[in-house]
Amino acid sequence: IERQDGRTFRQRLLVVANRLPVSAVRRGEDSWSLEISAGGLVTALLGVKEFEARWIGWAGVNVPDEIGQRALTKALDEKRCIPVFLDEEIVHQYYNGYCNNILWPLFHYLGLPQEDRLATTRSFQSQFAAYKKANQMFADVVNKHYEEGDVVWCHDYHLMFLPKCLKEYNSNMKVGWFLHTPFPSSEIHRTLPSRSELLRSVLAADLVGFHTYDYARHFVSACTRILGLEGTPEGVEDQGRLTRVAAFPIGIDADRFIRALETHPVQEHIKELKERFAGRKVMLGVDRLDMIKGIPQKILAFEKFLEENPDWHDKVVLLQIAVPTRTDVPEYQKLTSQVHEIVGRINGRFGTLTAVPIHHLDRSLDFYKLCALYAVTDVALVTSLRDGMNLVSYEFVACQDAKKGVLILSEFAGAAQSLGAGAILVNPWNIIEVAASIAQALNMQPDEREKRHRHNFLHVTTHTAQEWAETFVSELNDTVVEAQLRTRQ
Ligand code: ADP
Ligand code: G6P
Repeated sequence: IERQDGRTFRQRLLVVANRLPVSAVRRGEDSWSLEISAGGLVTALLGVKEFEARWIGWAGVNVPDEIGQRALTKALDEKRCIPVFLDEEIVHQYYNGYCNNILWPLFHYLGLPQEDRLATTRSFQSQFAAYKKANQMFADVVNKHYEEGDVVWCHDYHLMFLPKCLKEYNSNMKVGWFLHTPFPSSEIHRTLPSRSELLRSVLAADLVGFHTYDYARHFVSACTRILGLEGTPEGVEDQGRLTRVAAFPIGIDADRFIRALETHPVQEHIKELKERFAGRKVMLGVDRLDMIKGIPQKILAFEKFLEENPDWHDKVVLLQIAVPTRTDVPEYQKLTSQVHEIVGRINGRFGTLTAVPIHHLDRSLDFYKLCALYAVTDVALVTSLRDGMNLVSYEFVACQDAKKGVLILSEFAGAAQSLGAGAILVNPWNIIEVAASIAQALNMQPDEREKRHRHNFLHVTTHTAQEWAETFVSELNDTVVEAQLRTRQ
């Protein structure tokens, strides 16, 4: 930012997200170790470098005692992170309940929980109350650390109530909010009991951002249809006040992956993997173990492919790496056993004494192993039933400049809009179509693979996380200046 006297300074950015980039593991009364958290939000935010950023969020653990809180605050401070302490009950009602059992499935078109209607209504009320309370706790921490001129950037469906809380503290705060999931059609959002209150709180922000133009359009329609406000090409207007709404497609730090491929540990892993799977084509899935990732559908499509292509038995292996996530939510527990059951059945059916067709790992891989896996893969399978963007598809492309493997990509992932021309797009619900795409990908000629990869690689290396953040923050600064000019007129 350039000041009037011509000197420049780095603008301070307060990044507020439920999940901090690092999660804490307690090692003793006052000692903690910090591990990188999994998920697209963290991956993208770690790629954002050129800001004077402070992170505010939850460290993923309950810390009831003061000694622990003090020690963790100190450990996080070294990483420029500021914790928000949430107790067990709040985490249960806000994070497991309202965020991950209600908003997450709804925003991914899986609907609201339907088990017992009356019980659901009651839990809605208490969970929404906890959601608001948690958002207020985030606001309190932001307010404590806020300095005039800071930009406050709120992230994701956990914090839809935050812009309103922040503006109540200080109407001059520059507040942006970005959603990392899809925003569904207004017909879906309408079913949510707290639909209006959530929209109104988001509208308190100065700038509201989404991954794709479609999500932004759905949000504006929800505001016009549900709240009766005016939608304009710029955003949503309420009694002369404009909330700017726009698309800001996210990216990754592609160079970090490209550079890692040259390192010794990655080269060693690549060598091991090549020896281990010599003579077989490698197919890869990397996902959080989440309903929206379409993991059972993907595995069933692979089974269909094996069924129809006996020539490929023993010549192809599917590596599915699925890191467990949100394990206190019952739907996620059910998914884990469902996936294990399907994998066991298929390996029993198509395995031999020396090889199995599917290697399924329920765990997170470290960065170097992940890069090596991406690099040796012939075909990546990203078959999300819905996905805000999906950064795994970007990471795979970044690591494939030597091999030029094929990406099979769900048309319901935001990434289909950027990598569509290079990938084979599929409807993940259509198992026969996905099975046919696997055959197409495995048989694809090198010149076509090269052409498709070029397209994807160019996109991933030019639309980076850094560029995404710079565009959002500069748009937020401009939006606030324009609003000030409008009120002066
Ligand atoms: P989401 O945000 O829904 O998890 P994305 O595909 O956008 O989906 O981002 C997932 C991020 O988490 C990626 O950066 C990916 O590398 C990481 N990740 C997912 N599964 C694993 C795993 N099993 N091991 C290591 N990292 C993983
Ligand atoms: C998605 C969400 C993020 C979240 C991540 C991991 O990417 O958009 O907000 O951090 O999943 O999920 P978790 O519940 O572990 O934070």
